[in-house]
Amino acid sequence: MRVHPSILSADFANLERELGRISTADAAHVDVMDGHFVPNLTLGIPIVRRLAEVSPIPLDVHLMIEDPDRWAPEYVFEGVESITFHHEAARDSVALAKTLRDAGVQAAVALKPATDTDALLDVIAEFDMVLVMTVEPGFGGQSFMPETLSKLGRLRAAAEAAGTQLRLQVDGGVDATTIVEAHAAGADTFVAGSAVYGGDPAERIAALRGAIA
Ligand code: DX5
Ligand code: ZN
Repeated sequence: MRVHPSILSADFANLERELGRISTADAAHVDVMDGHFVPNLTLGIPIVRRLAEVSPIPLDVHLMIEDPDRWAPEYVFEGVESITFHHEAARDSVALAKTLRDAGVQAAVALKPATDTDALLDVIAEFDMVLVMTVEPGFGGQSFMPETLSKLGRLRAAAEAAGTQLRLQVDGGVDATTIVEAHAAGADTFVAGSAVYGGDPAERIAALRGAIA
């Protein structure tokens, strides 16, 4: 299992220091929001490039943006492990995933709570990871939506049938309680923002790991 703290809940005036505080995690989750695909606005290409240079751990870039077909490849930097784009925003998710893999980064596709898995099941081998959103994307600190978890089993079954490795990530409202449910439903990669930065990050990361150990 992997824990990816979301720096959306970190101090944006001190991001290098905030990355240092989560150095025991597996990757740092970076939420890119464009004010269009989601109402909120965060950060973009030049900041992600610098974060990748200074981060002690790899970056997991979550793009909540329109036109990812155009922009996602611009986020490929050394230190960026995976790039996640939204299926709802992409013109051609399979083609974009191929482009990202060819550029040397893991390709991941995200599903909002109301988006079902059907379009992905037949093409699951094209992705390294699927992100099942457990809140509406846009803001940290929202409540976990357990009704989204049934997607995980369908995605896992499709990956197994296709004989492919697939990471299943959940993002939104994940804490030491809800992580147990998400893990039981099949998730293996857990994003947590407020649950990590709401206390001592190293302790919170250890608590998340301990909850499902
Ligand atoms: C929400 C973001 C999440 C957010 C999670 O749109 O994609 O990554 O940071 O925050 P918490 O863990 O506080 O729900
Ligand atoms: Zn996210």
